[in-house]
Amino acid sequence: MSSDRIRVAAVGDLHCAKAMTPGTLAAVLGQVAERADVLALCGDLTDTGTADEAKSLVRELAVAKVPLVAVLGNHDYESDKADEVKRILTDGGVSVLDGDSVEIRGVGFAGVKGFAGGFGERALQSWGEPILKQFVREAVEEALKLEGALARLRTAHRIALLHYSPVRATVTEEPSEIAPFLGSSRLEDPINRYPVTAVFHGHAHRGSPEGRTSSGVPVYNVALPLLRRRFPNEPPFRVIEVQVERANGGPPSTPMPVYAGAGLGATIP
Ligand SMILES: [Fe+2]
Ligand SMILES: [Fe+2]
Repeated sequence: MSSDRIRVAAVGDLHCAKAMTPGTLAAVLGQVAERADVLALCGDLTDTGTADEAKSLVRELAVAKVPLVAVLGNHDYESDKADEVKRILTDGGVSVLDGDSVEIRGVGFAGVKGFAGGFGERALQSWGEPILKQFVREAVEEALKLEGALARLRTAHRIALLHYSPVRATVTEEPSEIAPFLGSSRLEDPINRYPVTAVFHGHAHRGSPEGRTSSGVPVYNVALPLLRRRFPNEPPFRVIEVQVERANGGPPSTPMPVYAGAGLGATIP
């Protein structure tokens, strides 16, 4: 079979600030090119969602030297300039996904920011005051956008990029009081309905690095503060390696993650 192994790196919550000294993120991004073929960024790319921060980030991303795909996070909306942030990043060569999908090096990416609302039987329901129903509707609409993006992909591998978590398992080390604000089970439903290879998300800086959906899809919390704390001796990004069919033919490859780790790491069971 004619195929290539493509390494997908992921990190979130760079929180690029206007006052950040140029080169600050080089410690994160400088090792990407030698360890990965694609870099996925899982939201909170900027600290307060300003154009200046987005421009700083584009300059910092130049050292990565691989194709870049991203979703925005809640911090990228803080200044009510998310469209401008998205445009600056897009002009800087980043594929910013918001209910969209893109194929890079034969790997399919479906991305949305996602939203909050909690998990499982304790998830917030659409009942009562209009503002509460509006809150729940935001999570439902993000889940529908994710479903549409996954449905449009025809690749052997689909990778879901989110900012908010779709499962409780990767936020378990956060204070329980804020767990409902860290993600939503509504995002898990489309992931379970499609053959998704892996999910990357951020947002939960003190969460847990790995979990699975109820159908067994691996979920990685790649918030930068979490990776730095849990894997202090590894580059602060996670990498999964997938096998993809070459453009010149051969049978479709079997979706199979080869390994996942922080920089380099352990085999997925
Ligand atoms: Fe964050
Ligand atoms: Fe966030």
